[in-house]
Parts: sequence; C-alpha cells; structure tokens
Amino acid sequence: MSDTRSSVFQCPACKGALLADAGCCLACGRSFVTQDGILDFVGGHFRTQLDAASYDASHTIDDNLAETDYQRFRQVAAHRWPATLGSIVEIGCGTGGFSRAMIGHRDATDAVLTDVSLDMLRICRGHLDRLGIASVLPVRFATYSANEACFRDAVFDTCIGSSVVHHIADVRLFLADVWRILKPGGRACFIEPSLRYHRVLAMAFADIIAMLLARDATFTPDRQALHNWIAEARRGVMLQGDLALLDGYEDKHMFVGETFETIALEAGFAAAEALPSSPDPSGLGGIGGLLARLQVGEAFAGQVMRLWPGYANRYLKLLNARDLSLGYLFWLTKSDQPRAVPSSTQAEAREPRRCDEAEVTGGGMPLRWVLSLMAQATSDGLRLKVEGWCVAIPDIKSVRVTIDGIVCEAPVWLPRADVHLALNADGRYATWNSLCCGVDSELRFAGTDRTRREFQVSIDLLFDDDRFVPIVTAGTLRPGASFELAH
Ligand SMILES: C[S@@+](CC[C@H](N)C(=O)[O-])C[C@H]1O[C@@H](n2cnc3c(N)ncnc32)[C@H](O)[C@@H]1O
Ligand SMILES: [Zn+2]
Repeated sequence: MSDTRSSVFQCPACKGALLADAGCCLACGRSFVTQDGILDFVGGHFRTQLDAASYDASHTIDDNLAETDYQRFRQVAAHRWPATLGSIVEIGCGTGGFSRAMIGHRDATDAVLTDVSLDMLRICRGHLDRLGIASVLPVRFATYSANEACFRDAVFDTCIGSSVVHHIADVRLFLADVWRILKPGGRACFIEPSLRYHRVLAMAFADIIAMLLARDATFTPDRQALHNWIAEARRGVMLQGDLALLDGYEDKHMFVGETFETIALEAGFAAAEALPSSPDPSGLGGIGGLLARLQVGEAFAGQVMRLWPGYANRYLKLLNARDLSLGYLFWLTKSDQPRAVPSSTQAEAREPRRCDEAEVTGGGMPLRWVLSLMAQATSDGLRLKVEGWCVAIPDIKSVRVTIDGIVCEAPVWLPRADVHLALNADGRYATWNSLCCGVDSELRFAGTDRTRREFQVSIDLLFDDDRFVPIVTAGTLRPGASFELAH
C-alpha cells in the first residue's frame, strides 16, 4: 500500500501527518482548505498590505526581470550555488518575480512556493501556466507567513526568498523554523535590504533636498516625492529592532550584515554569510531606478543624479566594501552534523539610558521641540493624540510618553520642510533630522481609569542609540484639554 501522508507538510496545530493532497490531519482531524490548488495554512490570520493585482505593474516585474534577478542570485552566490537546489521551498514568492525563472531553469527536483497571500500565489500560478512550466517539475503551492509550523522537519535542501524576510515580524523565530525544515547540509538564501546603505541614501538625498530648498523654497511634487521617501527610509532605520512600533508597517526591517549573521548562527546555522547583492559603490547604479519608481520628472531626476556624487561620497566612503550595496544576499548553511550550540531565539533587550540635554548635545546645538498632546477618555482607557516636531543633532527615534506607568512611543519621522526651513537653513543639524522631524500619532493607554480628571504624564525624547532625555517629568494631563510644550 502506498504512503498517503504528505512528504513535506504537517498539521501546524498538532504536528501530526497530513493526508497528501487533502490537507486533512490524520492525528487531530483538522483540515486545511485547498483553493485553486493552494493549500491554505494561514487562513487569513496574517496578511500583506501589498496589492497582488497591481504588484507586477507597480514593481515593473516581468519575465525578463525574473530572469535577471535569478541570474543575480546565482552570480552573487558564485561557487556556493549547488549543482541542483534539490527539494526547494520559496518563502514570499509573490507573483513569482523570482520563481518563474527558477522553475523555468529546472534547477530544483521539486518546489513548494509559498506566500502569506492566496492572491499572490494565484497570480504566480497563472504565470507558470502561461509560460508552460507549471509541470516541468512537481510544484506545490501553500500559504505560509512564518507563523505556521506547517512543514515537517528536515524535508528541504534549499529555502529561498527574494525581498521577503524584511516583511516578517520575528526574524529569529522565522530563521529557527527555516533551520528546522532544512535537511542536514541544506542551505537558505535571501536577498534583503541593507540598513547602512539606506541610511546613506536617505542622508545624501536629504542634503540634496535641503540645498535645493535653500536655493528656492518651493515645494514641488517631485521634491515632495523624494522627501517622503527620505522620511520613510529614516523611519525604517530608526525603528529597527522595535517590533511593537514596526507592527503596523509592511516593510519592517532593514539589515546590518553582521547582525543578521549572528542571528542566523543563534538560530542554529553552522555558517552565515552576508554578501553584497548588488554592489554599487557610487550609488549611481541604484538611485536612477529608485527615482524612476518615485515617478519624478526627468529634469528633476537628472538634477539629483548630477548633484549626487558631491553629496553622497562623504557618506559612502564611511561604508566598508560589503555594505556598499542596496542589499545583501544572506547565505546560510545547516551543518550535516547535529547542532552543537543550543539555539537562542531571544533578542537582546536594549535598556534605554537616561541623559541630560547637555550630554546628548555635547554643548552644541540645543534640542528643539514643539509638541501638543490631547487626551480623550474612552471606554478602554486614554487615547492620546501627539502632534508636533522635535529636532536634535543626534537622531531622535521617538517621543516616549508615560501615563500611570504605561509607556507608549510616537515615532519621529514625518516630513516637515517648514521646520527645516525655519530652524536649519544654515545646516547646523543633520538635514535628514530637520527635514523628517514630524510627529503625528494616536497612542492608546489601555486600562487607565476613565473617570479620573487628571493624569500624571512624563515625556522623554528617545534617541536611536537608546539614550533618552526627559523633557517633562511630572506634568498634569487633563482629558479634553490640550497639553502644549515647546523648547
Ligand atoms: C516585496 S514582495 C517580494 C515578492 C517576490 N519574492 C519577488 O521577489 O518579486 C514581498 C512578498 O512577501 C509576502 N509577505 C509579506 N509578509 C509575509 C510573511 N509574513 N510571510 C510570508 N510572506 C510574506 C508578500 O505577500 C509579498 O508577496
Ligand atoms: Zn493535527
């Protein structure tokens, strides 16, 4: 009698065997729906904010780009790329921007293509059908969001992902799951964005915008589009490691090569390498594409490209060779021996350190802020609107508010060209800080007593390097009345 159990899937609820093709657990009886040939483990519990229907068009993905990206993977991996990828699982395959080429090359013996989104997988499947490659090797489709233990232990030779790990909230848990599902000697490879390189791009673009504003302070849509990109990139850099603040954002992480390597080793991998995925020492290779995606006019793009070297070189020269790339190819190898070091999936807790203003400014330019807080009592506690801006020479991450021992943070990131022009026309603060100093958040202090008329509030400015400066230590906040502060 042939074995009817799935060779790669298991029941995520009880880890029991699944009846092949039926998605039914032989141990606990749970069943998982198959829709359009896609086995659905996520069941809508997690989702992406990306729109599947417009994804190819908005990201200029077509079969040629899939082939280029696939060749880039191979070229960067160089001698590490094996003769065959064996049994492969792809994470976050999206519309198949990588999978189309990979399947077409018949590099694997069989493949499981996964994504958090059923819609993405449907489109990916459609592309394989259109290209006539859906059955060149056994290909299965399943939803997976890194939160489901839906794969059996040690069943894949290769796990691959292109621009997906930075969407996954808990990267440590994800890598531990990848380690578990790989066979001994198996490998995982991911292309992901670099934090250091994005910091340089944002800082250099900010200097360029500041210079253009100094010449003539008009707010054109082109300038605004680039300014918005700078603010989002700065926000991404500032919020790194803060899972609570990153929660609402689709793009959660940018990575530092050696930090990712450490996390991968802690997840059990025997070796982890961060390789530059698209070396671009001058930045000019990548910024043209970036400006095109922002849909700025040709004249503006040309102007920024001409100004670029003069502004970017001062930052680019601070990066070492492997960081001179928009992203990394992470290449992780699972030992064929049993794991020697016990895994740790705990992130190091970062303890903020209290400082006074003089300590963070070093006697230089003062901290500046204008903030307005408005509290409202609701059935489940206080809701607090925090608006305004704050600027310093060191990078401010957030405004931290504590009420009744409950702590919430409002990120500092929104574009505020007006504040920049009023405060930093002479460039004494870093321009990415003055251009992106806006705060506009609604914080929830659940469990506070709604009948009280007054609350004690303390407010700190929290810096990127985990220092904080208290700016209000015992203020009195009254629901319905605004609480203003300026310095
Ligand atoms: C930037 S796209 C990349 C798509 C594809 N790999 C490519 O290179 O064209 C990110 C993909 O990750 C998926 N995604 C987002 N969050 C995810 C998660 N937690 N687990 C798995 N996939 C996720 C999205 O649906 C999307 O398809
Ligand atoms: Zn089960």
